[in-house]
Amino acid sequence: MKEEIRKFINTPLAIGNRVINGRLIQAPMAGLTHVAYRELLDGYGGASLMFTEMCSARAVPHENRYVSPVFRWRDEELSQLVCQIFGSDPAAMTEAARRVAAEGFFGVDLNFGCSVAAICKKNCGAALLKTPDLAVKIVTDIRKAITIPLTVKFRTGWEDRPEPAVELARRFEAAGADALIFHPRMAPDRRSRPPKWAYIGKVKQAVSIPVFGNGEVFTEADCEKMIETTGCDGVSLGRIAVAKPWIFSQWRTGRVQEMMMLKNNMLQMMVLMQKHYEPTPAIRKFKKMALYNAALFQFGHNFFKNIFRANDFFEIAAVVDAFFDQSPALSSRPNLNLFH
Ligand SMILES: Cc1cc2nc3c(=O)[nH]c(=O)nc-3n(C[C@H](O)[C@H](O)[C@H](O)COP(=O)(O)O)c2cc1C
Repeated sequence: MKEEIRKFINTPLAIGNRVINGRLIQAPMAGLTHVAYRELLDGYGGASLMFTEMCSARAVPHENRYVSPVFRWRDEELSQLVCQIFGSDPAAMTEAARRVAAEGFFGVDLNFGCSVAAICKKNCGAALLKTPDLAVKIVTDIRKAITIPLTVKFRTGWEDRPEPAVELARRFEAAGADALIFHPRMAPDRRSRPPKWAYIGKVKQAVSIPVFGNGEVFTEADCEKMIETTGCDGVSLGRIAVAKPWIFSQWRTGRVQEMMMLKNNMLQMMVLMQKHYEPTPAIRKFKKMALYNAALFQFGHNFFKNIFRANDFFEIAAVVDAFFDQSPALSSRPNLNLFH
């Protein structure tokens, strides 16, 4: 990492009425950025902001944090944790945001980017980009209801041109958003084509609130390039942060012994899954995360196949041990067939 970029990613940033200690934040990911993952991440030094999985705005006001699989946290992470909510009804979204604020989270993030059919069908996530007035009303209403930071995560939209997103960014800022996290892909694209980082630069130029770029930042060179070419205020790391939760501290400090980390990370994740979840979901959730770990290796397919076939954590631990005993070779970039 170039020295000036390392300095930049270690520079504090104000978001609304709060300050974060650096520029690398963790992206919200359903099924992955749960309480167990975030405890693991914390153990490696954390990220400047962490995000929950997306939580249904209708459910949030009534959730029991000790029972819900997604609206769950450790008290010690709250001051750096943003709760992401999804929904389409401004009143329900506002009520959810009130609960999030009352619980003491760092902030609320609005999911205007998810393009999964089940979510879009309910007019939530990226579907809201088709009804900009409604999306802006949600931001306006929530802004009136809470004082903690309010962020919006959104994507290019439904056409492959930057203008609608740029216009929306301006409107979100005017409606009271404190920061934007922008993923420059069209909604129907999901993750099939590379994101167009140039659009991040256009969004950044249109507003004066912080803009975080997101999308396929996997290496230090990617991170430098995104910052240098777009002028973004920070970078949101998704899948690579599941595969390498130490990536935030590695890039910030320039230190880490990667192979030892890779193995310890998987073993530690097994321990935390068993701490936070019942055996069946713990194994299912672990296998889902192992896909991202396996994607970093040249023979990651076989490694994942063996994990997938294992019946319990004893068998999984044996597979992990055997794999790392062979001094496995890393790929230069993650295998995108596994890194869904
Ligand atoms: C399994 C998975 C689940 C995701 N769930 C969410 C989500 O709940 N909310 C959200 O805003 N984005 C979600 N995303 C999108 C990520 O936050 C991020 O925008 C995307 O993965 C691109 O960043 P990356 O290339 O760094 O992974 C998800 C992505 C993945 C791979």
